[in-house]
Amino acid sequence: MTAIKYSGETRSSEHLAVLGTAKSDFSKIGLSENELSFLDGEISKKEHFITINQYKRLVVIYILEKRDHPYLVLEAHRRAGNKVCGILNAAKAVSVTVIDLIGDHENSLAFTEGMALGNYQFLTHKTQEVEKLKHSLRTIYVQSKKVNRQQIERLQIIVDAVGKARNLVNEPVNYMNAAQLAKEFDKMGKEAGFKVEIFNKTKIESLKMGGLLAVNRGSIDPPTFTIMEWKPANAKNKKPYLLVGKGVVYDTGGVSLKPTANSMDSMKCDMAGAAAVGCTMYAIAKAKLPVYVIGLTPATDNRPGMNAYVPGDIITMHNGMTVEMLNADAEGRMILADALSYGQRYNPVLAIELSTLTGAAAAAIGKYGIVSMGTAEKKVHETLKRSGENVFERLAEFPFWDDYAELLKTDIADMKNIGGSVAGAITAGKFLQKFTSYPYLHLDIAGPAFIDGSYDYKPKGATGVGVRLLFDFLSKAE
Ligand code: BES
Ligand code: ZN
Ligand code: ZN
Repeated sequence: MTAIKYSGETRSSEHLAVLGTAKSDFSKIGLSENELSFLDGEISKKEHFITINQYKRLVVIYILEKRDHPYLVLEAHRRAGNKVCGILNAAKAVSVTVIDLIGDHENSLAFTEGMALGNYQFLTHKTQEVEKLKHSLRTIYVQSKKVNRQQIERLQIIVDAVGKARNLVNEPVNYMNAAQLAKEFDKMGKEAGFKVEIFNKTKIESLKMGGLLAVNRGSIDPPTFTIMEWKPANAKNKKPYLLVGKGVVYDTGGVSLKPTANSMDSMKCDMAGAAAVGCTMYAIAKAKLPVYVIGLTPATDNRPGMNAYVPGDIITMHNGMTVEMLNADAEGRMILADALSYGQRYNPVLAIELSTLTGAAAAAIGKYGIVSMGTAEKKVHETLKRSGENVFERLAEFPFWDDYAELLKTDIADMKNIGGSVAGAITAGKFLQKFTSYPYLHLDIAGPAFIDGSYDYKPKGATGVGVRLLFDFLSKAE
């Protein structure tokens, strides 16, 4: 993991990444007359990225770009940071100092964040030439009048939490089954200081979590249900925020085996919601945010084993409602429904649930955003959307009209687990809504959770989506 260090006014590394505007005084960073005039020339040509190779060190200069909105400027800085990360690794640089000549803490932090997030690698299972593959960049120092130690510490926590979420998601099911996932959350709880309780299969049976148990029937590995709690004495809220994450450690589609070629290849990512919840708990506890939060992560794999649940089965859920199961691949909602109804005992001020729930959400907006919908007040949804912009994990709100619930009707049970041929992302949300009795936001992260090629500071594979979003939201919560 990349270390981020406060360096105050001092310069602590060889290589420099400099943030400036066309008007900045670049003589401060030790450039020769020739280099300064080269730089002037590049700036007047409207170049925003200027690299000066001084043989012993690289000086990469990023000139502020205009954008229509401040959050887009922030994102441009993250992307620039990632680009510089690539240049530094190519040059085998071990450390760099980010020098802020503008005096803007947000952009400096965003640049550093992009650099650190882009430096992530998942090499756990590589055994050959690991040293050669490993990025050289280890430490980023930040030199800015406007950035303080606490901001750097917080950025480090966030980057680490995203890295942890990416690791959990990138780990395949033969290394990360439901029990292991729960164990990882337990370890994170011990490290960051939040409470973790893990329910085993017997406990889950005694709680009559019929949805989670039904999905688990085709599996050899037992399910888990993890409860995480961060309740600091100085919490601003009495009623907790509830975070719920889908923890399907692998989704084969069950007996409704995934029909599309290669669509199973990335299905180790189906616990990305749970990873986001656990790693957000880690981050808020490490940063000691004054907010009371409960995290719930139901977990199992979804497989077509001998006793697997089959279409036509009627399942009695944790809250007593019955579901006619008509597609074993719509398993996420089965396990989440139990978690959401279990969540009622906390009387939450708001529940945010994250899941790689539907191909329909991914098809609608792709990796570019999170599909959101829910029953929470408009004001709350808007606040979360603003967090989405701040961290560039943007929300696209879908309608949540009651009419869609019609599509879940069946004659022989309270509802079925699939809708019709339209609005698949919304009917999935409508299904879950039936298990909530509190303000609720459903975030379908099927599009952005796992990507098949790198996308700026998100490397190929797991992105860790949700962690930065929830942290930003909870850091401003009342
Ligand atoms: N885990 C999948 C959704 C998914 C698709 C996640 C692509 C990430 C990328 C989910 O369990 C699923 O299979 N959903 C079905 C629901 C359908 C059977 C009603 C889907 O979207 O096809
Ligand atoms: Zn599925
Ligand atoms: Zn799934």
